[in-house]
Amino acid sequence: MSKKVTKIGVLTSGGDSPGMNAAIRAVVRTALYNKMEVFGIMHGYTGMVEDDIIKMDGRSVANIIQRGGTILKTSRCIEFMQPEGRKKAYENLQKRGINGLVIIGGDGSFRGAQTFSNEFDIPCIGLPGTIDKDIAGTDYTIGFDTAANTAVEAIDKIRDTADAHDRLFLIEVMGRDAGYIALHSGIATGAENILIPEKKTDIDQIIQSLEEKEKRKKLVNIIIVAEGDEFGGADELSKLIKNKLPKLETRVCILGHIQRGGSPSCMDRVLASRMGYHAVESLIEGRHNVFVGIVNNKMNYTPLNEAVKKKQRISESWMQMVKILAT
Ligand code: F6P
Repeated sequence: MSKKVTKIGVLTSGGDSPGMNAAIRAVVRTALYNKMEVFGIMHGYTGMVEDDIIKMDGRSVANIIQRGGTILKTSRCIEFMQPEGRKKAYENLQKRGINGLVIIGGDGSFRGAQTFSNEFDIPCIGLPGTIDKDIAGTDYTIGFDTAANTAVEAIDKIRDTADAHDRLFLIEVMGRDAGYIALHSGIATGAENILIPEKKTDIDQIIQSLEEKEKRKKLVNIIIVAEGDEFGGADELSKLIKNKLPKLETRVCILGHIQRGGSPSCMDRVLASRMGYHAVESLIEGRHNVFVGIVNNKMNYTPLNEAVKKKQRISESWMQMVKILAT
């Protein structure tokens, strides 16, 4: 693992997130500055398995820092989960002499990188690119800030119409396993309740408080529901509430994939640039098989095998604050 890295492959994998392009740009430009060759691997690990790999230069990343999505495309690759798929991938890298990899993605993508680097002599560096912010070892992930701001903008608009009609709105945000978008966007929009997969919800208490608000004629209510909450999302929750409180005017709005697209925020562009730059520095310095995070505004390096085991924890004090501020 101590060989000098001279040819880097970069790929984006799993769900795309705004800022991935900024990260690709930073990796490519830093590598070229250090006289390395850089290859873009298309469609995540699929490009490695199917030999869809392109040479990149400074111009191939021009005018992309402001664009959402990923110019390298992405996928969730089943073949790479099999040893035969990974062997093919290795052979395709070897053909070009690629001897270092930067993987921009979430925990599933890091799991793939960890397995690959255990099997073959290729150092891997991970960059946390996911709107879910559910990776321990970094305060922020690339794309989270943009996604949360997209949700906030939409929820603010919904509150206007909720207020005009005195309605309860159940707004579903993304997060199959993680409640960070729900938590942040809910706090930022003054939501009355926030339901997340990490915490059990006291549904009787929610019904009781809605009943009481109905009596007080405080009818405008916004409840933010992460898609992976225990009831199965906003539609299911709505049925449950309607069953108990049939007179309450309730509407559901599912924000969906608009949260994944769009131009990255300033914060995500800067975060992605810093992480991309430090990913290449890590390969040069021999700091291998880690993912680059940011903790207290300083770069932080977590071994890939630790990153795959841990999730960020949502602290009880945040949940307590949510309760107090929503009263
Ligand atoms: O990228 C993470 C995420 O957006 C989750 O929040 C969401 O549950 C999932 O991806 C949706 O994935 P897909 O676009 O494949 O349906």
